[in-house]
Amino acid sequence: MFKSIAVIAVGTLLFGALNLCTAQEQEPILIKFSHVADEKTPKGQGALLFKQLVDQRLAGKVRVEVYPASSLFGDDNELQALADDKVQLLAPSLAKFEKYTKQLQVFDLPFLFDDLEAVNRFQKRAKGRQLLRSMEASNIIGLAYWHNGMKQLSATKALQVPTDAAGLKFRIQPSSVLEAQFYQVGATPVAMPFAEAFDALKSGKVQGAENPWSNIYSKQLYTVQPFITETNHGVLDYMLVSNQRFWFSIPHAIRSELEGIIDEVSFEVNRQSEEANLADRQRVQASGRSQIISLSDEQRAAWRAAMQPVWQQFEADIGAETVKAAQTVNRKSRN
Ligand code: LMR
Repeated sequence: MFKSIAVIAVGTLLFGALNLCTAQEQEPILIKFSHVADEKTPKGQGALLFKQLVDQRLAGKVRVEVYPASSLFGDDNELQALADDKVQLLAPSLAKFEKYTKQLQVFDLPFLFDDLEAVNRFQKRAKGRQLLRSMEASNIIGLAYWHNGMKQLSATKALQVPTDAAGLKFRIQPSSVLEAQFYQVGATPVAMPFAEAFDALKSGKVQGAENPWSNIYSKQLYTVQPFITETNHGVLDYMLVSNQRFWFSIPHAIRSELEGIIDEVSFEVNRQSEEANLADRQRVQASGRSQIISLSDEQRAAWRAAMQPVWQQFEADIGAETVKAAQTVNRKSRN
């Protein structure tokens, strides 16, 4: 009698342990994808498409949770959260990696890229690919570039020539290049997280900003910025990054599948971003809340001349050959 009870007890324990093992083995890998943009932006849509494709193709093996609009982590703590493995995927703007590498500052240089196609060419060439690996020493692996778009200057007053910006405060991303760019035109840059930009503009803490149309529209910045000058003076793009140790801990077959999905998603994001920005430009225009100012060739040349000295200032940090490689991707002639 005691013997059979003991056998049953041992059997139950073994069965339970076996079940636990199987459950542990089957526990899907959790990827938390945090970002600061709105869901209806190129980055927001990219994150959702990534989740959708992973749900379809890696169900039971990988689970993705997307946290948009700084709902989990914001600009000031998301990269630390990645280091601490509290989040596994991020897509910060290229301006936000300065603490980890100076090389990516190339993307912030004003008037370096003529348009988004030029940026695209640079990202695809050897130098651009190499920059994806520029933060390995900090355990950050770059998985892809995602476009948002070219930046426009907005303000409480009409900005036609560089001197119009003098004396104004502009919200910037935390980047020394962007800081220097605004000092060049006599303005005062104020670095702050994206989540604080709207309130800072609304309250008058700052009077201007620089953003692509998708952010101007989705964050409703146009409702507090009566003038937007179509400068296309720089780019706001992203790097999809992960914690390198986490990434390489994913079993090879699953990681390859994830990298294939990332390629597909990146292709889609990059194919649609320009159109999405144009559609948001139309929406801003249709709202009638903000006047869109176009620059003449001479006016644009004046902005370029005022801001371009910044290149010299940062060339040594970035690497002269990186700046040169970026310049060679432009096709249009200079005005
Ligand atoms: C910003 O801070 O202005 C942008 O980097 C926000 C974003 O992620 O598009």
